Amino acid sequence: MDTLISASLLGCDLSDIAQELKNIQQAGTDWLHYDVMDGVFVPNISFGEPVLKKIKKHISVPVDTHLMIIDPIRYIDNYADCGSDIITFHIEAAEDPQAVIDKIHSRGLKAGISVKPATPASAVEPYLESVDMVLVMTVEPGFGGQSFMTETVDKIKEVRELITKSGRDIFLQVDGGINGETAAVCRNAGANVLVSGSYAFSAADKKAAIDSLR
Ligand code: DX5
Ligand code: ZN
Repeated sequence: MDTLISASLLGCDLSDIAQELKNIQQAGTDWLHYDVMDGVFVPNISFGEPVLKKIKKHISVPVDTHLMIIDPIRYIDNYADCGSDIITFHIEAAEDPQAVIDKIHSRGLKAGISVKPATPASAVEPYLESVDMVLVMTVEPGFGGQSFMTETVDKIKEVRELITKSGRDIFLQVDGGINGETAAVCRNAGANVLVSGSYAFSAADKKAAIDSLR
């Protein structure tokens, strides 16, 4: 199982985004992870559509948009229009998760469903027939640079088992506190897409950092 790396823009030097994007893509990131926060679903506000629209010309890898917002269905068209390839939303934030998945698919994009640390693996099971990715949060969403929550590892394993049982090819992504050590723990538990913010962007040798995650 190949491991993909999705570098999280939140972890870069935001005063120099174009250069940071150039460096991280040269270092071999597979995807670019774009964290959208609304100050309601999570206690922080990051960036939204205008920024993605402007930086899109500097991005040649798939854009992996992570919506940490309430009522995500209202914003699927907007984030599809500004250049997302994958849109992941939180199951806790959606009234009708299936409708959100269908909406993402109607725009020809891949759909991901995410769970916060307190939400059990079983919550995603009803959607494994249609979803393209499950994102298991390994920190409380809202901030970069937090420590990996070891108690989420069992859930990664459980989700991997559910995916295997489904017989479908579904990405299993982890996000939060991923570094050279926690990456190995997550890969062993069954994750195959690793988000990295501060670890990848703060490294002097970004290629070595990304390689160490795989
Ligand atoms: C946190 C975000 C993450 C964040 C990860 O809520 O979803 O994508 O950027 O940052 P690190 O890798 O620094 O924990
Ligand atoms: Zn994220």
